[in-house]
Amino acid sequence: MTPTRVEKKDIQVLISAQKIAERVTSLADEIAAALPKDLVIVGLLRGSFVFASDLIRALHEKDLRPQMDFVTLSSYGARATSSGEIRVIRDLTDDVEGRDVLIVDDILESGLTLTFARNLLMERKAKSVKIAVLLEKPGKRRVKIDADFVGFSIEDKFVVGYGLDYAGYYRELPFIGVVPTL
Ligand code: IMP
Ligand code: MG
Repeated sequence: MTPTRVEKKDIQVLISAQKIAERVTSLADEIAAALPKDLVIVGLLRGSFVFASDLIRALHEKDLRPQMDFVTLSSYGARATSSGEIRVIRDLTDDVEGRDVLIVDDILESGLTLTFARNLLMERKAKSVKIAVLLEKPGKRRVKIDADFVGFSIEDKFVVGYGLDYAGYYRELPFIGVVPTL
């Protein structure tokens, strides 16, 4: 399904680049206060790559020494019609056994993706697994899971930008926005 290309100017800003930057800095404070300095950050691809790259630099300012790894999980699309089945498309590079892990994702919605990721890391014998998300939609949970660190709680609207996509587009936007035609 290829959507009609909507121009950038048509996208309403929901959270500005400046607000995101301020919140990423304060999230790094929260994370640095709660977690050990020697941390493995696992970004869920593809949506988390922008948030993760800003977050690790903010964590550097707080004296943390995170290592960075990624895992690509199958996505079931924006419609909530999934069977809930999630698979590993590209696995982690490193061994997480005995390590303190922080999973980073763009958004917590149904909770299926993060539940799968957390279980995967616990099966791999991580010492601890915490979760940081830039966004969450509280009303949309299908399984009981909470993130330990949440940037912004938003209402139930489909959002794009700062790594989040609509059919692969708009990940490059420096802000979180809403596509008016959706
Ligand atoms: P969950 O398994 O439903 O919590 O799904 C989270 C995943 O769905 C995220 O990692 C995103 O890739 C995608 N997603 C959920 N809501 C949105 C949205 O509003 N815009 C773009 N992607 C979304
Ligand atoms: Mg995602």
